[in-house]
Amino acid sequence: MLNGRYGEGRALATRLLVALGEVFEADRMIPVKSVQVSGVSYKTIGDPGIDFLEDLAQKGVRSVVKATLNPAGMDLRRWRTIGVPEQFAQNQLRIISAFEKMNFSTTCTCIPYYAGNKPTYGAHIAWAESSAVTFANSILGARTNREGGPAALASAIVGKTPFYGLHLAENRRPTHEVKIESPPSSQLEFSALGYAIGERIPQGVPLIEGLAKRPNLDELKALGASIAASGAVALYHIRGVTPESKRFCTTETAGLERIVIGENEILETVQKLSATNNFDHVCLGCPHMSLTEIRNLAMRIGEGKLKKPIWCFTSRKVYSLAKRKGYVDRIERAGGKVINDTCMVVAPFEEMGVQSILTDSCKAAHYLPSMCRSNVTLGTLEQIVEKTI
Ligand code: F3S
Repeated sequence: MLNGRYGEGRALATRLLVALGEVFEADRMIPVKSVQVSGVSYKTIGDPGIDFLEDLAQKGVRSVVKATLNPAGMDLRRWRTIGVPEQFAQNQLRIISAFEKMNFSTTCTCIPYYAGNKPTYGAHIAWAESSAVTFANSILGARTNREGGPAALASAIVGKTPFYGLHLAENRRPTHEVKIESPPSSQLEFSALGYAIGERIPQGVPLIEGLAKRPNLDELKALGASIAASGAVALYHIRGVTPESKRFCTTETAGLERIVIGENEILETVQKLSATNNFDHVCLGCPHMSLTEIRNLAMRIGEGKLKKPIWCFTSRKVYSLAKRKGYVDRIERAGGKVINDTCMVVAPFEEMGVQSILTDSCKAAHYLPSMCRSNVTLGTLEQIVEKTI
């Protein structure tokens, strides 16, 4: 492949992976079971990204493994209903069409594990979206580094990744012990806890101790997204909860660097990420909402009417399950929207007139001011529904 016997596109992708492997001193390549590529929104990759992808597609390269995409810049079917500008939409559709030609499934979501791309325990994968990487490593026990978009794309084309970092068992042991003094009591607090840990441990593998109850999957999803937003954490363990904790977290933690997170740090995190009290839209689904989250919202809304729009972001797969169960209709009857394929950070909000946002995600609050020039305020789901109905 490196010598170009299988075409110019595959040679290019192989060169990139070889260079990456050399930087990290990998001794070989290993096959990957699946890939998840980021850098899909026109907002993040622009015209150079379109040219690059169309050129690759035209060279005839194809993904040779299961490969899904991170959120694009719009709902690919109903972009007009959320006010995405025509020119942006046309550019976005070119990007999707290039990926389609390269055999990518155009499931544009950051929760691929709820959308047909769920790796098994121990599987080697090459994923790029940081929240999905953390979920795959920590909750599913799969093995991936936090790939850049181009490296993940190259892995899809070659079917391999360099064997280094979190693919190696020895790098999956905890490096820090994090003692939680006041356990989080809402999903927002789990998100804030993750954010606070990521700030204190920019790099490493935290072992989290002191949670009062077994967190549910949505709480873990929120924690993992934030831990990877404020820091570069791609794997964490919770004793007795995450699948590798038995193997890698022995009772002996004496040698680990110890960090204590108190109640104040969680509250301060929420305060510091909340820049305003006003909002024109509620945005939920960073990471994309699960079926349980959509159901909880629909139940809380009941037959009420919304004073301000609630936009829910999720994958098409979760959307269709929620639609079948009547949750989508309930939310949309109240004046909300359930949107697919995109997210609040990579959609062109600044051109769509969305300025101030109420959300429950610290990751979204971290990125929205810089990516969308939005003001953000944080609230729990309960507070959000209270303020909106
Ligand atoms: Fe997903 Fe977008 Fe948040 S990709 S994790 S919803 S920033």
